[in-house]
Amino acid sequence: MKIWSLLFLATILSTSHGSHIEIPNQIHSLRPQSGAAGTHVPGLSCLSWRLGVETHNIIGWSTIPQACENYVGHYMLGHQYRKDSKAVTDEALLYAKSLALGGDGKDIWVFDIDETALSNLPYYAEHAQFGALPYNSTLFNEWVNTGKAPPLPETLKLYKKLLSLGFKIVFLTGRPELQRSVTQTNLKNVGFYTWEKLILKPSSATSSTAVIYKSSQREKLEKIGYRIIGNAGDQWSDLLGTHVGNRTFKLPDPMYYIS
Ligand SMILES: *[C@@H]1O[C@H](CO)[C@@H](O)[C@H](O)[C@H]1NC(C)=O
Ligand SMILES: *[C@@H]1O[C@H](CO)[C@@H](O)[C@H](O)[C@H]1NC(C)=O
Repeated sequence: MKIWSLLFLATILSTSHGSHIEIPNQIHSLRPQSGAAGTHVPGLSCLSWRLGVETHNIIGWSTIPQACENYVGHYMLGHQYRKDSKAVTDEALLYAKSLALGGDGKDIWVFDIDETALSNLPYYAEHAQFGALPYNSTLFNEWVNTGKAPPLPETLKLYKKLLSLGFKIVFLTGRPELQRSVTQTNLKNVGFYTWEKLILKPSSATSSTAVIYKSSQREKLEKIGYRIIGNAGDQWSDLLGTHVGNRTFKLPDPMYYIS
């Protein structure tokens, strides 16, 4: 599905700022997917798998089920991923707007980077079969070092609105300190033009899990007086642990799992 998937991707990413007109579902697409004749539809079990992943009932997996490559590919490249992301960021914005901030510049919103602010979908579509292939750090780092990751459009919108509401932004990522410069450039090039802090993983922390590393970084932020009002990430390890913030927002990611 390589060629068409990249074409789709190009379309989806290039329409990210345009107004998108929804075509209403036709009646036939509302039929239950199990089929009138009881035929097995592979996508159905992959949907259960994705739900299990998003709800953190299925944990510790290293690759997506081979049988779900097409399902996850269609999900990521189609409208559903965007809609699911928007459902999350809409709630986040409603919440953010409902608050009266301290006005002292200490109210922060924490964003993860990969699959939260920046999308590695071009890489996962071309080189990783949407997560069906095992993680290859050499190839993945080559991709990161191109600095060409597009933004997640819904996150970018939320980011801009949070800034206008007076939030300070902290990016907290599992990317290593070595990738600071390319990450900074990539973020700025796609519209994330400012932040209070950009925290990357020091080489001394490589052995700890993301939950431990991120909790300790958030604790440090609170110790120096910041209030973590919101926290958004695509991995549960962004949102679990300690000092998680007043509210957390889980963005979809059926492609990989980080503990
Ligand atoms: C990663 O990908 C490269 C390039 O395809 C390959 O040479 C290498 O063996 C892969 N590494 C692993 C651990 O699979
Ligand atoms: C965040 O949570 C703390 C601790 O529960 C609470 O004191 C504070 O009022 C909350 N802030 C907001 C903006 O909800």
